Amino acid sequence: MSNPSLLILPGDGIGPEVMAEVRKIIDWYRTSRGIAFDVSEDLVGGAAYDVHGTPLADATMDKAQAVDAVLLGAVGGPKYDDLDFSVKPERGLLRLRKEMDLFANLRPAQCFDALADFSSLKKDVVAGLDIMIVRELTSGIYYGEPRGIFEEGNERVGINTQRYTESEIARVARSAFELARKRGNKVCSMEKANVMESGILWRDVVTEVHAAEYPDVELSHMYADAGAMQLCRWPKQFDVIVTDNLFGDLLSDAAAMLTGSLGMLPSASLGSPMANGRPKALYEPVHGSAPDIAGQGKANPIASILSFAMALRYSFDMGAEADRLEKAVEGVLGDGVRTADLLGEEGVTPVSTGEMGDAIVAKLSASL
Ligand code: IPM
Ligand code: MG
Repeated sequence: MSNPSLLILPGDGIGPEVMAEVRKIIDWYRTSRGIAFDVSEDLVGGAAYDVHGTPLADATMDKAQAVDAVLLGAVGGPKYDDLDFSVKPERGLLRLRKEMDLFANLRPAQCFDALADFSSLKKDVVAGLDIMIVRELTSGIYYGEPRGIFEEGNERVGINTQRYTESEIARVARSAFELARKRGNKVCSMEKANVMESGILWRDVVTEVHAAEYPDVELSHMYADAGAMQLCRWPKQFDVIVTDNLFGDLLSDAAAMLTGSLGMLPSASLGSPMANGRPKALYEPVHGSAPDIAGQGKANPIASILSFAMALRYSFDMGAEADRLEKAVEGVLGDGVRTADLLGEEGVTPVSTGEMGDAIVAKLSASL
């Protein structure tokens, strides 16, 4: 049997630096565990635009469709701010999500014990936090038509459309209920049913799917604004949160910050099973390309490394290896190893991106 295949798309800003650390982890699994992947690499975002004049070449799209999992770094940067909207770096990522039909975006927010003091919230509010945001990723206002900037009378009008079909809502709801069964068995669905018809439909469909297929899971509903408030007030009330594309974008950034640093949060974007039974999948850190610190060895590679742990778990059914990698990260943080985003303690000097990767590799070796 051939090895499972990975396509690495480092992208822009700190993307290449953090993905270089993921490569160290992949190498460790090959040399120390005999778990080998066929790895290829290609361009996305501004890096692709610079070479091909498009943020995602068709050939790259084809490769992404063919591999078992895509690992992405980050896209975007000020250099591309003035580009036409259709070729902005972000369009490359959005095309991958849409064409691979990666409808369920899993964004866990877990607070490592060693970092409970880093949150801007009080320690007892975040210590032990473990929630999962399931964000719908292929529809809603990100993709709805009509969209654009139009002339109306003597002024311009900007239009985006929030649009959801019943089947789009039902399938992401199922993902959330399935995950909840393996965790705390609770789902909170968030929308704005008080002001949006798409929110009313969202609430209806989630309720129907729950009653018909998942009555054993505890379901609650919240308006997304109240949900944002509750996330900051007492986040541990949540287990799985399911929400639409735009609310999920906002709520997951807020949830990420509860854990101390955006540099810690991984994500998995999953679609329907392929012929080999594995889901279409793309793994990426929640953080962006951080152009202000790019190329300086300051970036925290943990979000990308934990995204690879999610790949081990969700694409390759290697839960025990994912646990091993997550424990290694936890161990390194417990030892007080900190990148520059995690400073604040007395007398701690930050390590570089590469040193953090090396420390995690050393912990992995110590786990054998
Ligand atoms: C995210 C990012 C993206 C989004 C951008 C880079 C297009 O913010 O993954 O959360 O808005 O979805
Ligand atoms: Mg975002």
